[in-house]
Amino acid sequence: MKHLINPLDFSVEETEELLLLAEDIAKDRSRYSEVCHGKKLATLFYEPSTRTRLSFEAAMLNLGGNVLGFASGGDSSASKGESVADTIRVVSCYADIVAMRHPKEGAALVAATHASVPVINAGDGGHQHPTQTLTDLLTIHSLKGRLDNLTIGLCGDLKFGRTVHSLISAIGRYSGLKFVLISPEELKVPSYIRKEVLQKNNIQFKETEDLESVMPELDILYMTRVQRERFFNEEDYIRLKDKYILDMSKMALAREDMLVLHPLPRVNEISVEVDNDPRAVYFKQAQFGVYVRMALIMKLLGVELC
Ligand code: NCD
Repeated sequence: MKHLINPLDFSVEETEELLLLAEDIAKDRSRYSEVCHGKKLATLFYEPSTRTRLSFEAAMLNLGGNVLGFASGGDSSASKGESVADTIRVVSCYADIVAMRHPKEGAALVAATHASVPVINAGDGGHQHPTQTLTDLLTIHSLKGRLDNLTIGLCGDLKFGRTVHSLISAIGRYSGLKFVLISPEELKVPSYIRKEVLQKNNIQFKETEDLESVMPELDILYMTRVQRERFFNEEDYIRLKDKYILDMSKMALAREDMLVLHPLPRVNEISVEVDNDPRAVYFKQAQFGVYVRMALIMKLLGVELC
């Protein structure tokens, strides 16, 4: 039985297979509308979510399956003191596959250890978010036509932003990549990403605080929200939250074919005027998230198009 806890749980070949399936689904969704008939997905969300939970649910419904679950830990027996290990043992009796989001790093791994059905990590604290990464890879692959030979700027909260950690780990396996890590000193990538992923694999990267000066180099600009809920004090959050605001004057410095991605939700970091620029693809990205989750559910359930 396979789980998806860390983006590296899937090899490059398995990831590419998944992206091809997602691209096929995107071409004609109706062919896949019954492949998960009779199957159930449980969404166990102990932390707020709009896109991830709803796109998982939409994905399962699009495949002809059913969904059950909860949207906040307060609605579950966690509020009575039940452990993740016990909850997952029980939910394994009710559902064929589980997507779980939890504020604690490592919670999804604990769940997978005790589950008798596939578990998907839908975000564990400030650690990893592998299905957002699949979404990001599908967006880049579909719109740029490649995952290699790209200069990728990641901007904002690179310390607590789990989507950033997962994306660097997964796309870092391709050749000819260069990362430009744009953040204030306090929000630089954690040292396990710098040392164990970037340096260990000899991946080219540079760190800077200055977004404007690197704009002309980028093929992809991945903007992120400053993760307020992971800060220890509000003062630091307020000081850092508006450090980067992407507006049309900065977009004017970028290449004509640069793409702007954002996992969303956006707060202030991308000004709404940018939404109309054809290079802004963050809402398309949310649509790709449904296709890739459809593909993922099929793969983990071992379901194929007949
Ligand atoms: C991200 C997350 O939850 O980590 N959102 C998402 O799943 N699309 C990014 C964020 O909350 O900033």
